[in-house]
Amino acid sequence: MAAKVMFYFTTTVMLCARLLPIEALQVQIPEVVTLRHVQVQIDVTDVPGYPPGYNESCATSHVTGNKALMLNVSMKVFAPGIQIDTEFFSPDQNALVAVDTDNDHCGMSWTDVYNTPFPLQHLNHEMTRVYCEHAPNYPSGSRGGVTSPIDINVLQPPFNPDDPIQHKLLPETWSLMFSPTWVQKNTPYVVLDMTVGHLRADVWTSWVCRATGDPLNMEVYLALAPAGCPSGKYGGRCDRDCLCENAAACHPFNGACKCRLGWKGVACDIGKKCHVQRNKNPASSRSYI
Ligand SMILES: *[C@@H]1O[C@H](CO)[C@@H](O)[C@H](O)[C@H]1NC(C)=O
Ligand SMILES: *[C@@H]1O[C@H](CO)[C@@H](O)[C@H](O)[C@H]1NC(C)=O
Repeated sequence: MAAKVMFYFTTTVMLCARLLPIEALQVQIPEVVTLRHVQVQIDVTDVPGYPPGYNESCATSHVTGNKALMLNVSMKVFAPGIQIDTEFFSPDQNALVAVDTDNDHCGMSWTDVYNTPFPLQHLNHEMTRVYCEHAPNYPSGSRGGVTSPIDINVLQPPFNPDDPIQHKLLPETWSLMFSPTWVQKNTPYVVLDMTVGHLRADVWTSWVCRATGDPLNMEVYLALAPAGCPSGKYGGRCDRDCLCENAAACHPFNGACKCRLGWKGVACDIGKKCHVQRNKNPASSRSYI
């Protein structure tokens, strides 16, 4: 009998806590020698620091359609002989962009490959530095916007496979970069790597970045705002599947789940009171939560 009770107990613990390490549970196993019926109540709590937090400050509602990028992007470029105004440009057709938003603080890292005539190829000239500051009225009519730290790196070929920035590129891009036909067609090209401290939902976070140096004199207005992903998707490219259950909200940045009342756990699939009962009839092996 003892063995049988233990068996049910173990099964139930796994049901209740299949997303948690078993050491996270503190359970007193009752003395079972002649018991015919046992009722176990298990209260399951998440391990601190995991899963990723649901940060309200950059949570958005779902967007409709087949959006490939979670962000709204607005950009204006001024450089000698060139002016690009891509307000509300949507770079989702660009297969080369990798947007990593896997963090709790609404931060983002963007790594992309550009080919010229974009004047980026001059940016990593030894004498060239990029400085960014808050662009309060960009895009125009944006209610002042907010700012956040930004860090921009530009790399030119020859690329070194050991460079950590290149490892942030999408695997497809990585293999393209070393394919002779693509390199020929797109030469000269550069890798742009940009890290943004944090973004907020429903407002533009905006910068003006200036690069000065011989032969470059460039000014870039850039603004980003999280737009959200279609239902069931998350990540910078809205290409990852949400795990949230029981109608929990799924965070567009990191897929964290915000549980509805009565649920908890990584995927909101654990009842708040995880009661486990075994039927009185010992012939039945059914347990339920
Ligand atoms: C949420 O994001 C903001 C930045 O947008 C950050 O300051 C804050 O610390 C984050 N909260 C948590 C709990 O990580
Ligand atoms: C971002 O784009 C969405 C449409 O995809 C729009 O509904 C939203 O208002 C935009 N956000 C900002 C801050 O402009």
